Amino acid sequence: MNTTGSPWWQKAAIYQIYPRSFQDSNGDGVGDLAGVITRLDYLVWLGIDAIWLSPFYPSPMADFGYDVSDYCGVDPIFGTLADFDRLVTEARARGLKVIVDFVPNHTSEAHPWFVESRGSRDNPKRDWFIWRDPRPDGGPPNNWLSEFGGAAWTKDEITGQYYYHAYLPQQPDLNWRNPAVRAAMRDVLTFWLERGVDGFRLDTIHHLFEDEGLRDNPPNPDFKDGMAPTLRFDRVHQFDQPEVHGILQDWRHLLESYPGHERVLVSEAYLPLEKVMGYYGGGKGAHLPFNFQLIGAPWDAAFLASLITRYESLLPPGGWPNWVLGNHDRSRVASRFGPDAAPLATMLLLTLRGTPTLYYGDELGLADVPVPPEMVQDPWEKLVPGFGLGRDPVRTPMPWDASASAGFTTGTPWLPLNADFATRNVAAEKNNLLLLTRDLLALRKHETALQTGAYGLIESRSDILTYERLAVDRRLQVVLNMSAAAQHTPVPAYELLLSTRRDRAGEMAERLLRLRPHEGVVLAIRE
Ligand code: GLC
Repeated sequence: MNTTGSPWWQKAAIYQIYPRSFQDSNGDGVGDLAGVITRLDYLVWLGIDAIWLSPFYPSPMADFGYDVSDYCGVDPIFGTLADFDRLVTEARARGLKVIVDFVPNHTSEAHPWFVESRGSRDNPKRDWFIWRDPRPDGGPPNNWLSEFGGAAWTKDEITGQYYYHAYLPQQPDLNWRNPAVRAAMRDVLTFWLERGVDGFRLDTIHHLFEDEGLRDNPPNPDFKDGMAPTLRFDRVHQFDQPEVHGILQDWRHLLESYPGHERVLVSEAYLPLEKVMGYYGGGKGAHLPFNFQLIGAPWDAAFLASLITRYESLLPPGGWPNWVLGNHDRSRVASRFGPDAAPLATMLLLTLRGTPTLYYGDELGLADVPVPPEMVQDPWEKLVPGFGLGRDPVRTPMPWDASASAGFTTGTPWLPLNADFATRNVAAEKNNLLLLTRDLLALRKHETALQTGAYGLIESRSDILTYERLAVDRRLQVVLNMSAAAQHTPVPAYELLLSTRRDRAGEMAERLLRLRPHEGVVLAIRE
């Protein structure tokens, strides 16, 4: 059952690797590219089609690589450019695509461009970043706050002006209104395209432009105590400005001008769904504007049903859907929804219409790992403690086996391992979720209905979510029992293809489907 005709990224399952935490090859306790290469066979075994690598570029690591000091290199902690080239070659030999992270909104303060820019007011690179005079009272130019807490402006003593940073002071924002910046960053994309990458994940793309007049943000009427301090204002002037779409178009054009297969642009923007849809740019923007709807959702059948319907209905014509269950910024799915729900959530992710992105470790049911205060690494947690914003718990090392340090490193891991790594690891044969993930990915490959078929909601009631996926002569039904009680539900005559419990397959029955607590199934309808 071949689905020729659609581009690879529509049929692919993407797997996010956080390079610091996947596999260490030199015993320094931090993962690296050579380590990733040794684990490619695992990803093939699992049934992954494409990897997305979080940043591995030279960086002072103030934000663990999202503060880039050289866009065209590899940080020594992760290896060398030769390692990267080898990774692409080895991935390609196994049929895996490679998507790299592109961080266009800001550089590191250590990037030579910023070092020059801050040198003097008349430096040729001054306008590559966003500099403004203080207000008459000496304060910052406006009321904008940083995503990581505190003012989004830092006064630089060298010239007495403030520079803007949507994130850390160590991450100054580039000025995308400057054509020289646009050209330099286009060259960065070309550099990686020439090295054979298959696409880019565009970091925090909605922040690329700010209001040109730098108007103050109005207060957020929905702000309540306990919310992250940065939400005190409605950030209408601070991000999601229309100019971003022209830049996306330009990059799309660049990618399309490369010969051979299609390359993919995946964009990250935490915005209301209507706004996210704008990043498709009417077919001229990102191919896959990340859909984070499942990341913020409660585990509730009716809620999920309406969320999926809403997402499907807002998609622009020709816009291909995508689903994300976890990433390096948000609580892991096993912690958000609970361990019993994790297999169902995986079944949901891999049977909905659209390209799924899996986060490393979620296939093992890895939960958020508590990180004691003295081991905290994430700058966000350090700057805004007590709000549960820290991201260390979701970035802990991948547990490969039961040996010391879980086979991740021969040294001391940079973050603690999951306490249950002796049993929750890749080599432990009984990990049901790992095998289920593999079975689901195999089923996706085999069933056109799952890869590219239509989606239709059948019903959501008493914690059961039922939907269908349709191909020309194939009708599949996915039935998820999201409750802790056994359930019966009417269905047409079916053959059971796969259960989250993995002890049922091939069962043929009529009319009534019995589901155990927290059980989900994929059925082939026989009528
Ligand atoms: C994105 C990244 C996050 C990073 C931020 C600043 O949201 O996913 O990890 O801290 O951008 O680059």
